[in-house]
Order: sequence, then C-alpha cells, then structure tokens
Amino acid sequence: MINPSSRSGRRDPDVTIRRILKVNHAGEFGAIRIYGAQILVARRLFPDIVPALEEMRGDEIDHCRLFREAMPARSAKPCRVMAFWSLGGSVLGFLTALAGRNMIWICTEAVESTVHRHLEDQLAFLAKRDPELHALIASIQEQELAHLRTAESSQKGRGLSHALLLPVVGALTDLMIWLSTWGDSSWMRAEMARAGRG
Ligand SMILES: [Fe+2]
Ligand SMILES: [Fe+2]
Repeated sequence: MINPSSRSGRRDPDVTIRRILKVNHAGEFGAIRIYGAQILVARRLFPDIVPALEEMRGDEIDHCRLFREAMPARSAKPCRVMAFWSLGGSVLGFLTALAGRNMIWICTEAVESTVHRHLEDQLAFLAKRDPELHALIASIQEQELAHLRTAESSQKGRGLSHALLLPVVGALTDLMIWLSTWGDSSWMRAEMARAGRG
C-alpha cells in the first residue's frame, strides 16, 4: 500500500508521529496481556514472582493510558487490530509461563529489549519534532529498562532455552510491530536512524 504522504518521496512527520503513538499504544496493550496471562499461570505455579509481574503490568497499564491520552492532540487513533495484539499477547504469555519461570523472564527480556530498540529510534526522530511526546517516551523508556533489568537478573543461568527463545520472541515482537504498522516500521526505522544521525 502506498503511503499518501510519500508522494514527494518524503514522509510527513505528522503521519509518522501518529503511527508511533498507534503502535506504542497497541504494544502496551499487548504487554498488559502478556503479563496478565503470565500472572494467571504464576499464581498457581510460581506465586513468589506474582508481585514483580503485577508491578510491571501496572506500569504497562499506565503507559497504555498515557499513549492513549497523547492521541487526540495529534489526531492519532488506536490501532484497528487491537484484538490481534490482545490474542498474540495472551498466547505468548500463557505459553511462556507454562514452559517455566525462567521462560517468563526470557520472554520479558526479549520483548522489553525489542521495545527498547524501537523507543530509541522514536526518541531520535521526536527530539526536535515533538518534544512533549519525546519527554513522555523517555520517561516510559526508563521503566521499560527497569523491566528489562528485572528480567535479566531474575534468570537462573542462561542455557539453550535462552539462546533459542530470545531471538524467536524478539522476532515475533518485531513482526507484530511491522504488521500493525502495515510494514511502515521498516521505513520508520530507517528514517529515524537518519534523524538520529542528523
Ligand atoms: Fe510499557
Ligand atoms: Fe515493559
């Protein structure tokens, strides 16, 4: 599909900003579902990690609300395929939790590190174009980094499951982002990388 803003070969930054908000809001929604499914399983199998998962889920709920609140001023709308994020998040959460507590943390590490990379691209793009949204994402990124550190420090050893699951979940997260932006995350990444260098 041709992006109408690309007629001149240059993307309209407002379109990119709307897509950033849309994918971030949907991604937070997916994260809420991942943690929600993991909490359901962990309550029965690993109750000791439930408080940490609940705290992270609480952060994702805040992030989701903050991105939603930032939408109207920028004429952005939520993703049309939220159900897809909901289902994808729940399935990923259940499968990893059923596979064991270490898998929960490996999943969190993979998702949070992929999210971190996307937020880095966005921050470079937004610095001069939307300082208010830049500040919001920078503060959210700090909490995502704390989630990543918790996930890393909670793992007991890093064996084959880490080596196998990390790239798979990372690629799935990238795919979800790519699909929900109709493939635009690819050019957004290139454009943001250019903006970051400029
Ligand atoms: Fe988040
Ligand atoms: Fe997070």
